Amino acid sequence: MVTKDQFRTAMSKFATGVTVVTTLDEHGQPHAMTANSFTSVCLEPPVVLICVAHSTHTYKYVEKAGKFGINVLGQDQEAQGVYFAKRPADRHGDVDYRYATSNDGIPVLEGSMTFFGCQVLNTHVCGDHTIYLGEVKEVRQGQDAEPLMFYRSRWYHPAHE
Ligand SMILES: Cc1cc2nc3c(=O)[nH]c(=O)nc-3n(C[C@H](O)[C@H](O)[C@H](O)COP(=O)(O)O)c2cc1C
Repeated sequence: MVTKDQFRTAMSKFATGVTVVTTLDEHGQPHAMTANSFTSVCLEPPVVLICVAHSTHTYKYVEKAGKFGINVLGQDQEAQGVYFAKRPADRHGDVDYRYATSNDGIPVLEGSMTFFGCQVLNTHVCGDHTIYLGEVKEVRQGQDAEPLMFYRSRWYHPAHE
């Protein structure tokens, strides 16, 4: 039997990039959440996936909106990564961010390295998460930068280690 802690520790050795998932809340306002479960699934059609915990606001909002954005963070966006990993009630402090709007009305987090605008194609419930397969309808390239990374449960800057 693999315990939760064993599983978490094992997964923490897998270094990932960091994204912010954007969608619209129940009032049609932008909502954002830090996520590293992002991966590409197939090329034809272009499909990506994210895994979203049922405990998050994002889950409720993506279920309703049927669309989401993936904003790939650069190292200069660590403060945003930290901020959007908090629940909305705990998002205090002076974090600078702005949104543009995609062709499909999805919030685009300005200053990100890349934006993928996705329509939900399919979902699969697995335990306490839902896997969203999103067909990529739009890509916006931002500035090239060093990617923000997450490794051993911390933000990771390989060049500075
Ligand atoms: C590096 C990092 C990656 C994360 N990846 C995910 C993820 O892929 N899916 C998820 O549901 N939560 C993930 N989280 C946790 C959410 O960001 C966190 O629960 C957030 O408060 C949810 O916000 P919301 O309730 O406003 O949607 C991650 C947190 C961190 C720090």
